[in-house]
Amino acid sequence: MTHSSIKRIAISTGGGDAPGLNAVIRAVVLAGLNRNWECYGIRDGYTGLLLPEQYVDGGLIRLTRERVRGITHLGGTILGTTNRNSPLHYPITDPSGNIQYIDRSDELVRSFMLHHLDALITIGGDGSLAIGNALAHKGLRVVGVPKTIDNDLDRTVVTFGFDTAVAFATECLDRLHSTAASHGRVMIVEVMGRYAGWIALHAGVAGSTDVILIPEIPYDLQKVVAKIKARDEQGRNFSIVVVAEGAKPKGGEITIKEKIAGQGERLGGIGEKVAADLSALTGKETRVVVLGHLLRGGSPTAQDRLIALRFGAAAVRALEEGQSGVMVALDPPNVNYVPLEEVAGRMRAVPLDCDTMMTARDLGICFGD
Ligand code: F6P
Repeated sequence: MTHSSIKRIAISTGGGDAPGLNAVIRAVVLAGLNRNWECYGIRDGYTGLLLPEQYVDGGLIRLTRERVRGITHLGGTILGTTNRNSPLHYPITDPSGNIQYIDRSDELVRSFMLHHLDALITIGGDGSLAIGNALAHKGLRVVGVPKTIDNDLDRTVVTFGFDTAVAFATECLDRLHSTAASHGRVMIVEVMGRYAGWIALHAGVAGSTDVILIPEIPYDLQKVVAKIKARDEQGRNFSIVVVAEGAKPKGGEITIKEKIAGQGERLGGIGEKVAADLSALTGKETRVVVLGHLLRGGSPTAQDRLIALRFGAAAVRALEEGQSGVMVALDPPNVNYVPLEEVAGRMRAVPLDCDTMMTARDLGICFGD
């Protein structure tokens, strides 16, 4: 399909929301309209096409200039999103009440054809990009845009949403210093990030924390205790510990809040465990702050807006050039395209020899190892 044969494109936002989603939507729509393409948004991932009867607008909304005006700075997504109901693994309840999972991707491709949608721009994390990859294999023209506050996607230097999450976490860490110092306490700050420690590492270094615990380095709490005691001996009677939700002790397990059928696990709770153990081992007062979904909210930073707008426009250019089955990726100073195949289902952990890790160690930050 050439540029001239594209008449209608659809946009989908999937997985957990991230600041910058609306900026991508705006860039895609304006760049698409400038090429005389009609632009449509699918409600809640792909639910708008799979269960259209649930929506007063039929699950597919026409995206006009007016509809995307003034949304660049808004958090969330005007289309809605979901991290449930993957079309590849769609839950249905059988007559005896048991949940079965079926592949509805062929039905989804048929729905695209029925609506005369020539191409899809899918904005999401590993799950959404894996769905995009499967749809591309079924003949749909697909371009992916990497989104997640966790920054754990492969083949792009950064995902949009990450900078906003790090900026907010850093501000929280800054604020905790004065109260920690005033009370001589150990403050434990739990941040999201799934199985990668990007948010904890970047916010921890920028926010001058004393300890950073990340999934990539199973920790030995005695090392953390030694760090806190050393600070006490230097007259610094407080400490700030940032712990990624996916962190785990050496030889121990990750802390799971909830197991969700067909969807995997929700992480959370490690902050409380670390706080209880540190309190017992140091005799110091500890307090826990869980930043959780606050990291996903708010207005995107200028950097996230810019990356999101660049990604959106580059996705449209990719379709215009006839590309499909690719993801836009930041490769400074450019945005380039990488095969979805090489991204789908892969996770990027923090490399232990990266410059930010070395900087943290040079600053004397303890990783519990
Ligand atoms: O992937 C983004 C993320 O916020 C993770 O950091 C976190 O583990 C997860 O989503 C939380 O998902 P939910 O929105 O289902 O609570």
